[in-house]
Amino acid sequence: MTESYVVAIDQGTTSTRCIVFDRRGQLVSLAQQEHKQHFPKPGWVEHDAMEIWRNVERLAPRVLRRAGITIDQVAAVGIANQRETTVIWDRVTGIPVGHAIIWQDTRTDALVHSLGALPGAAAVSDISGLPLATYFSGPRLRWMLDHTPGLQQRAERGEVLCGTMETWLIWNMTRGSHVTDVTNASRTMLLDVHELDWSAEALDFFGIPRAMLPEVRASIGAFGTASEAFPGVRIGAALGDQQAALFGQTCFTSGEAKCTYGTGSFLLLNTGTELVKPGHGLIGTVAYQVAGESACYALEGSIAMTGSLVQWFRDQLELISSAPEIETLARTVADNGGCYIVPAFSGLYAPHWRSEARGVIVGLTSYITKGHLARAVLEATAWQTREVVDAMNATSGLALKTLKVDGGMTADNLLMQMIADVLDVPVVRPLAVETVSLGAAYAAGLAVGYWPDLDGLRRNWHIAGQWMPAMDPALRDTEYANWQRAVQRTFDWIQ
Ligand code: G3P
Repeated sequence: MTESYVVAIDQGTTSTRCIVFDRRGQLVSLAQQEHKQHFPKPGWVEHDAMEIWRNVERLAPRVLRRAGITIDQVAAVGIANQRETTVIWDRVTGIPVGHAIIWQDTRTDALVHSLGALPGAAAVSDISGLPLATYFSGPRLRWMLDHTPGLQQRAERGEVLCGTMETWLIWNMTRGSHVTDVTNASRTMLLDVHELDWSAEALDFFGIPRAMLPEVRASIGAFGTASEAFPGVRIGAALGDQQAALFGQTCFTSGEAKCTYGTGSFLLLNTGTELVKPGHGLIGTVAYQVAGESACYALEGSIAMTGSLVQWFRDQLELISSAPEIETLARTVADNGGCYIVPAFSGLYAPHWRSEARGVIVGLTSYITKGHLARAVLEATAWQTREVVDAMNATSGLALKTLKVDGGMTADNLLMQMIADVLDVPVVRPLAVETVSLGAAYAAGLAVGYWPDLDGLRRNWHIAGQWMPAMDPALRDTEYANWQRAVQRTFDWIQ
């Protein structure tokens, strides 16, 4: 009998990857393609959805070729995607109406402000589990409908459709199935996170016609059979990428948490079948749902900018030529020299939710070298993690004992040590670092019976690295207080 495999599509903020996994959850082959980031105005960030779809079409045969397998050996495909990024397209031609507006985009700042003053705003936050912010799809969709003449009417007639990136990909892969999953839907502000269906009240609040929205399905179940990219293969799962990482880290039970360090960073704590009332700047989100079962929820601390600060340091300041060099540069100095960088480039997300905040560098003196700046860049990720862990501990009433990490930035050993130091808990990295893709593959494999149960998946998790806290407590407290004063400056800058 020929061996079979599962493929994951990870449609991320900066690139799309296709990965083939085997039964032991091991990576067999990977194909990756970056897509262009469009920055038409300060604070605006867009993607060309058609470019992203073409990339998936190109990557599919490439990843199978690299694995040395044929399409009939693929048992299922699972999708994980950047969340909240929103696109509208024509139902007949399939052509997008303008670019997708991505999750980091802050153009809806003024709109969010005015919506926040309306009487229904608090109720919509309760229904959706989310604070009103530029981050989520609802305000973005309202903005799109307002800024293209005639689009609202076309949406009401069902002539144009909308979706986040998994919806867009499944539409193209199946030639016209318009569906989303509960995890992605829970990032729109339009879903009733308790009922797991679109909320009439939220749709009314944002003025979004139901006719343009996809059908909401469980994340692990049935999304149809692909006719494009992976023809004949069942699409077994779709999840937001951070939820997929939680799944890939096998955090299946209440109390288990992970933090993924990518463009931004996202700490998710599994809260089981109960949606814990979010507080302290955290948000309530769906972790995953198996078809026919109750959904599993999570508390999330979302940080907008971590890896993309390193990218900015590399591409805009040109102080390093590759991302890994930041560790070498930061190691040229013993400390930050009194310098702090707060990357509020897209405002600040958890726990502050201040979309109007802007980034600052404070504590500059002639003593500061690029080494100190590199250190301040890495420390910004560590301190932002500390802020969300504090919020998590305060909300759950429990103290986090260890933090499971994954994502590209976890290759930076200095950063991992910094995180252990500022949290004062061990930081643990698994052997499989492609946890987003692995989670999508696990979910799709479960849907088709490729893997029988969650216990088998747990056995695939192996530790690869561990960092123990080693910072003097008094120094930790002083540095945290300095960081918090620097954060305050991002608000002071607002006019
Ligand atoms: O919520 C945004 C998040 O899903 C983006 O993740 O890894 O594509 O930057 P990533």
